[in-house]
Amino acid sequence: MTGWSFHNPVRLHFGDGVFDEVADAIAGRPYLLVTHPDAAMRPWRAHLAGRAGAPLAAVDDIEPNPSLAMLHRICDRLTAARLEPALIVALGGGSVMDTAKFLAAGHGRYTPVVHYMESGLPPERPALPIIAIPTTSGTGSDLTRWATIWDPEQGRKLSLDRDDLYAEAVFVDPRITESLPWPITLSSGLDALSHALESLWNVNATPVTRDFAVAAARDLMAGLARLNGDPLDVGARTVMALGATRAGLAFSNTRTALAHNISYPVTLDHGIAHGIACSFCLPDVMRAAIGADGDCDAALAGLFGDLDAAPGRLRRFLDDLGVAAGPDALGIAPDEWREIVDAAFAGPRGRNFIGTRDRFPIAIPAAAAGVAEA
Ligand SMILES: [Fe+2]
Repeated sequence: MTGWSFHNPVRLHFGDGVFDEVADAIAGRPYLLVTHPDAAMRPWRAHLAGRAGAPLAAVDDIEPNPSLAMLHRICDRLTAARLEPALIVALGGGSVMDTAKFLAAGHGRYTPVVHYMESGLPPERPALPIIAIPTTSGTGSDLTRWATIWDPEQGRKLSLDRDDLYAEAVFVDPRITESLPWPITLSSGLDALSHALESLWNVNATPVTRDFAVAAARDLMAGLARLNGDPLDVGARTVMALGATRAGLAFSNTRTALAHNISYPVTLDHGIAHGIACSFCLPDVMRAAIGADGDCDAALAGLFGDLDAAPGRLRRFLDDLGVAAGPDALGIAPDEWREIVDAAFAGPRGRNFIGTRDRFPIAIPAAAAGVAEA
């Protein structure tokens, strides 16, 4: 890579207590709140309403991996209520962030957004502004311009991707994550670790994204190890929040790579949480990346030491966290796994990957291998 640029127009607020500043950022604008119904969110919702005034409405029936069917239901309800929000406030994890982006893109209407995603034509009007308050240390969606939308009925994943979907402001307050249960802490933290590593072994990596990614991976591995030993370690929550933020800044500019392309059918067809689906195979993806790019190798050596041993070190780290050791542990048969990997290399994220298929530790199908040997 010769010349490069870095772009992320989000105003980022970070630290214990920044949640208290959200009301100033809302500045009296009528807003739609998108959030989770969980008891853990109630004090934060009450706190926000006390300072900023009540939202026009709260959308809190968000399912994991937002689907077209769920979004259609929500949009029908908002359209019937004839609400005119000036702003969307997203208080939640990745599913909340992605739902908020869909609602912002269509001003609460369903058809224009689906039309935009399927036609590729310019949007009818600019999206509503978004204020994002992440409640997990993982998704990074608060710092990107895209959302993942699922269509299980047709077995497909859609991407909503628009420059006007960057949040107007993000408030990362680690206090919000203190009560996050361990399974969500783990899966969202591993999603963020995947974002960091996928940003490193990426054709779009730059010196700046690499610095963010290495620092992020360090934070996230340290934070997860600490919280695995002591879920009440408040300091580790701040480390995780910083790691997820750094990873978000890195992959907002590089996008993800092979492991994410692998993850989509694993989530869609096997119901595996996104953070697990995009992390269980990271050691194999690392094996395929090593040797492809000197800067990436140097970054991985800085994180994991000797490159011959690096994939094994990452495997042991995941083992200690109880993450499935391979596709069979997730109920994926060898033939299906090979198909998933082959399709992922050809997919849009797979093409961001610096490594090559022959380095991936699973046999190339006989027909393709025959061509390679000819
Ligand atoms: Fe992800």
